[in-house]
Amino acid sequence: MKVLVVGGGGREHAIVWKVAQSKKVDKIYCAPGNAGISELAECVDIGAMEFDKLAAFAKEKEIDLTIVGMDDPLVGGIIDVFEKNGLRAFGPRKNAAILEGSKAFSKDLMIKYNIPTADYKNFTDAEEAKKYLETSKYPIVLKADGLALGKGVLICKTKEEAMEGVKTIMQDKQFGSAGDTLVVEEFLTGREVSVLSFVDGKTIKIMTSAQDHKRAKDNDEGLNTGGMGTFSPSPFYTKEVDEFCKKYIYKQTVEAMAKEGREFKGIIFFGLILTKDGPRVLEYNARFGDPETQVVLPRMKNDIVDLFEACIDGTLENIELEFEDNAAVCVMLASDGYPEKYEKGFEITGLENFKGKDGYFAFHSGTKLKDGKVVTNGGRVLGITATGENLKQARSNAYEATKLVDFKNKYMRNDIGKAIDEA
Ligand code: AMP
Ligand code: GLY
Repeated sequence: MKVLVVGGGGREHAIVWKVAQSKKVDKIYCAPGNAGISELAECVDIGAMEFDKLAAFAKEKEIDLTIVGMDDPLVGGIIDVFEKNGLRAFGPRKNAAILEGSKAFSKDLMIKYNIPTADYKNFTDAEEAKKYLETSKYPIVLKADGLALGKGVLICKTKEEAMEGVKTIMQDKQFGSAGDTLVVEEFLTGREVSVLSFVDGKTIKIMTSAQDHKRAKDNDEGLNTGGMGTFSPSPFYTKEVDEFCKKYIYKQTVEAMAKEGREFKGIIFFGLILTKDGPRVLEYNARFGDPETQVVLPRMKNDIVDLFEACIDGTLENIELEFEDNAAVCVMLASDGYPEKYEKGFEITGLENFKGKDGYFAFHSGTKLKDGKVVTNGGRVLGITATGENLKQARSNAYEATKLVDFKNKYMRNDIGKAIDEA
């Protein structure tokens, strides 16, 4: 089989790595890919939003299966374009990717189908939002409706911050048209858990849990980022939590989408918060998480291509999804300054230390090849990942492994997985 993966970050590197284990696959392409991916796949210089070019490439190369890792192309309708061209592609169609593409849509869906989430109100008029915020309880959460690189969520401690937030999102349009609609949401407290799942339109199979670290600095200080590190499983995702989510959240979401005429096939990523009143959905994503995927896929026993195909064919109920009884930790090595200003183009040394080292991975997020050398090419550079027999061992292995590579302005958090000690 020939497979094309669309995207070029650490998530796609992990997906390509896992697809490369499949017995069914003899050739992998990745568009656009990165330096790490190019060791496993042939990278193609086509952007993830160039749907027609990608479809033409898939036809020309007789690609059997295309896997889309990123949110923007999914929300933009890449799957519909591939299907129109008679190509098999894994991911939700545009009318289903709205589950991630519009927070106002997903909040309305949850309320309509009794899926537990925070109270909220949607606004399309800034003055009305401000009026509402005059008498709200603080802290409160403001969310740009559309995609905003994970940066469209503002936690406002005071009324003044909230007024400023409305201006930023709705009037100054810092996140563009993503801020045409604003979701004002109740502030919840609790531990956050990421749960990824495969969905075939009617059946849902839950993968193992993970926890992300979104803030740039230790102790959850600093700005929100795409994610600075992850661990899996989450010790806070207990049997009780799992039972609650199975009863009130997972199947309900899939059925709700089907009832709305928006059959969902692909990955649903549940961003959960475990409040004292039980789990609540903070957000949905319509794709694998980054860097959750880097800790989830190395623990997965199945041939992932079987799962992609079963989701497309609607035969997921026949597959038993299995994970190793171990743990994994990913520590993101970033360019100092991320998520704000940072420099790139610095040579990365030591990557060869990961070759043939079982259970250790240097997943490339922002790298490229320049004059035969691997150089930094983004804010998040490498997801250094290690497995271990338990979370503490995996964490210690991952931090040891961060010492194997170096580049100028290398930055990481030193407390990824600190919560493990509190479990
Ligand atoms: P989201 O992009 O919706 O996952 O939001 C990004 C981050 O903002 C989440 O991971 C949470 O840390 C925080 N957040 C979002 N919604 C809420 C909420 N209702 N209460 C508290 N924190 C929230
Ligand atoms: N790590 C969070 C995300 O992928 O959205």
